[in-house]
Parts: sequence; structure tokens; C-alpha cells
Amino acid sequence: MEYRQLGQSGLKVSVLSFGAGTFGGGNEFFRAWGHTDVEGARRQVDICLEAGVNLFDTADVYSNGLSEEVLGKAVAGKRHQLLISTKATFRLGDGPNDVGSSRHHLVSSVENSLRRLGTDYVDIYHMHGFDATTPVEETLYTLDTLVKSGKIRYIACSNFSGWHLMKSLAVSDRYGWSRYVGHQVYYSLIGRDYEWELMPLALDQKVGALVWSPLGWGRLTGKLRRGAPAPAVSRLPKTAQYGPPVNDEFLYKVVDAVDEVAAETGKSVSQIALNWLLQRPTVSTLIFGARDEEQLRQNLGAVGWTLSAGQVAKLDAASQVTRAYPYWHQAQFTERTPLPV
Ligand SMILES: NC(=O)c1ccc[n+]([C@@H]2O[C@H](COP(=O)([O-])OP(=O)(O)OC[C@H]3O[C@@H](n4cnc5c(N)ncnc54)[C@H](OP(=O)(O)O)[C@@H]3O)[C@@H](O)[C@H]2O)c1
Repeated sequence: MEYRQLGQSGLKVSVLSFGAGTFGGGNEFFRAWGHTDVEGARRQVDICLEAGVNLFDTADVYSNGLSEEVLGKAVAGKRHQLLISTKATFRLGDGPNDVGSSRHHLVSSVENSLRRLGTDYVDIYHMHGFDATTPVEETLYTLDTLVKSGKIRYIACSNFSGWHLMKSLAVSDRYGWSRYVGHQVYYSLIGRDYEWELMPLALDQKVGALVWSPLGWGRLTGKLRRGAPAPAVSRLPKTAQYGPPVNDEFLYKVVDAVDEVAAETGKSVSQIALNWLLQRPTVSTLIFGARDEEQLRQNLGAVGWTLSAGQVAKLDAASQVTRAYPYWHQAQFTERTPLPV
């Protein structure tokens, strides 16, 4: 396993991290995603640790807290060997303050996550999304206080726009508060928008990317191909509409290119999709998912080898799309605004 620095922090994370969205299955959406119980979670955690994975990602809203509970039980007795990342901001409860990144909501969210996880600290605490109704100063002062109290160790954000992140970093810098060291972002061979704004920002500000759904919400796994029947067992039929949108024809074009590289390398579709991401700038870790141990073991085989420059170029070409404004315009003047990749 390779370990990378998370942004400009001193924390080393394994380049592959495990996403615990499949733990629990507490409601219809999450049951379709996965319903790994504590016993199964323990085995998956052990397989990950054996392979050198040190980071496990969850969120308060995953299965309404059940994912945190299952993860907490699965890592009991091994807490010191690994890092836990969790998140708050999205609605968890019916009350007016059961949502957002206010001091009120964050302080109680951290306490609840610690209780469910059975731990007294969280290694990486994420704002799951931007809260435009709470002053950025309130959020960051609260997070800084939580870091100082020892309840959380590093802070990160997720699904922020460029200006959300830049404003937050500027506020942290102005007051000398803890800074977001990571940005948990969607990025995959079938979704490269991250490269347009957020990657140059991450390079400039030294913010590490923790990539979510690196297999394109489970689509880059060999189960979706032109003319192939829908997979018999997959969360896709029930959850595809809530994940990153992708046009079928574009997906098939990318999968065709991945299949060519798979034939050359003898690697699987998911291994190639993950290995491609590991060669992109700013990427600290890929938070992949697995329904079962077989998928897990296959995905762990994405490290220890490297796609050739020609193979990367083939995948780049197949997954290239027309950029939105102002990025298509900037791409014509790269002398002073070089593309990050
Ligand atoms: N910050 C955010 O907003 C956000 C959003 C989403 C996810 N996340 C994080 O990212 C983690 C991973 O997300 P994800 O599950 O969408 O990631 P993903 O790695 O893109 O997809 C994982 C899914 O793909 C399928 N799969 C995985 N490996 C496979 C293999 N080798 N062969 C065949 N199928 C395979 C499985 O689904 P099926 O078997 O059901 O097809 C599995 O659940 C989550 O657990 C969570 O921690 C964060």
C-alpha cells in the first residue's frame, strides 16, 4: 500500500480508503446500497487492514447513523490502528436545527457521532456540504474549537464549489483557525468536472482530494456494457438516479476504452478505473465501496502496479468532454492558466 500526505497536513492516508456507506442498510435507499452487518463489517475491516488500508469513511446520515454504529463495533479493539472519517451538515432529524453547519448542530453532531462510533475522537471531520445560511466564521470557529478540544483531529469539506472552499480557507487564514486539509469530491473516469475548478484550487491551496465514488457510483465495475443485460445484483437500478448523472453513450465509450486496457493489462475494469485516478494530481485517497468481500479484494488489487503513459492517454481521450464556461475559454489560453493535468 502507498501512503500520501492529506493536503498540507502531516497526516498520512492510504491511497485506498474504505467507504462504509454499505454498512447497516437502515432505510430503503441504503438497503439497496448495501446492508453489511457487524460480523461482515469486521471481516471487511480486517481484509482492509491486512492490505494496509488505514482510513474508513462514514457519515452521520448513512443509514441514519447505523453505518457509524456498525463501523464503530467493527473496529472495536483496533481503533488505534486506523483512521476514521465522518461527516455532518445534512438533515438528520425533523427539528429546525437538525441540519446545517451551525455551532448548535455541529457540537451535537460530533457528540452523537462519537457515541455511535464508540470512540472519543474522529480523525477527519467533514462538512458534508456547504451551508450557505450559516456564517462561514461560525462554522470554522466551531470546528477550530472542536480540534482544540481533541474531539476531532483534522477538518475537511465535501461537495463544495470553488468559492465555498476558497472563502473558507481565507477565513481560517485570517483568524489563524484550523484549515480544511481535504476536500471529499466526486471524481471518476466518467465524471472529470473536478479537474476544471476544484483541482487547480486544490493544487494552489494544497488541499488533498478524498475521492468519493471513484468507480462512478458503481458503474465502472464491468457490470454495465453496451448491449449487456442489466446486472442481477446491484444497487444501480434503485439508486442510479441519486448518484452522479451520466449519459449512457458516454459511459459505453469510456467502458470500451477501459476494456481495451483491461485486455492489455489483465486487470479488471474497477482496478483500471482506480489506478487511473491514482495518477491524477491532488488525489490523496480513493474512497471506494464494496458490497462483499470478493469486490473488496478485487478493488484492493488496484495498487502495486501502474498504467503506462499510453494507457492513461487512451483513457484520457475516451473520457474527455467539452468543458463548461469559463473553462473552455481558459483552455484556449493555457500559457498563463495551465491545465492541471
Ligand atoms: N461525500 C459524499 O457526498 C459521498 C457521496 C457518495 C459516497 N461517499 C463515500 O464514498 C464511498 C464509496 O462510494 P460508492 O459506494 O458510490 O463508491 P464506488 O466505489 O464508486 O462504488 C461502489 C459500488 O460499486 C460496486 N462494486 C464495487 N467494486 C466492485 C467490483 N470489484 N466488481 C463489481 N462491482 C463492484 C458495488 O455496488 P453493487 O454491487 O451494488 O453494484 C459497490 O457498492 C461511500 O461509502 C462513502 O463513504 C461520499
